[in-house]
Amino acid sequence: MTALADGRSVSPVGPRHVAIIMDGNGRWAKARGLPRVMGHREGVKALKRTVEAAPRLGLQCMTVFGFSTENWSRPADEVSDLMGLVRNYLTSDVDRMEREGVRLRVLGRRRGLPADIVEIIERAEARTAQNTRFILQVAFNYGGRADIVDAVHRHVELVMAGEIRWPLVEKTLGAGLSTAGAPDVDLIIRTSGEKRLSNFLLWEAAYAEMVFQDILWPDYGEAALAEAVVAFGARERRFGGVEARTAMAAG
Ligand code: FPP
Repeated sequence: MTALADGRSVSPVGPRHVAIIMDGNGRWAKARGLPRVMGHREGVKALKRTVEAAPRLGLQCMTVFGFSTENWSRPADEVSDLMGLVRNYLTSDVDRMEREGVRLRVLGRRRGLPADIVEIIERAEARTAQNTRFILQVAFNYGGRADIVDAVHRHVELVMAGEIRWPLVEKTLGAGLSTAGAPDVDLIIRTSGEKRLSNFLLWEAAYAEMVFQDILWPDYGEAALAEAVVAFGARERRFGGVEARTAMAAG
């Protein structure tokens, strides 16, 4: 058993890869009469707490939805706030990630992002590329459909270059996605009570369990993540077959 900061303990066996739709920042701020950006700022603090807790709960990989291809339609000042937050996060936390064995990957389209953010992303990814203790994937300017389309384009280019053969099969498409190389997603969490996938990890979610939690993202941390891990442990996964395998044994 693994001891948590609040004195409880959880089984160290559980989902390897957890993906989170960090929802509810705006409502958290509104409930306090604050501008939305304050909710996003607190959201970054919750992200740091959750990343820190994840290896203690036995996770090897976590993917979080930071900014979707659809989020460009938000008011310009909110988009600019979110860009500023990712800039700060990837600059200020990369030392810690490097030290603590966290490998950072940023999923999603680089084109369309400000050039300095692309540079920051590339630098942070390069500095943490050798780390193996934990993988943190931040989906930023990411959309599940766009990622599949990009993978198909890459595949067609390789076919045209004579490097691989048509037809396209699942394994090669999966290898072209921005999540390639990460373990399969075992569990998708959405906070704030909403129950949608919102174009997140459409391909990767094929056999993921889903847990919806009422908590708003800025209030998230180790206790809430532990609850989701426990809920996952109670699920039976059959992967399309008839034999039930417990979620924890499914690997
Ligand atoms: C959803 O809440 C949250 C987002 C669209 C962005 C998530 C961003 C962060 C947690 C902080 C910045 C991210 C990084 C990677 C540094 P919402 O605004 O839709 O909330 P609402 O549904 O209550 O309005």
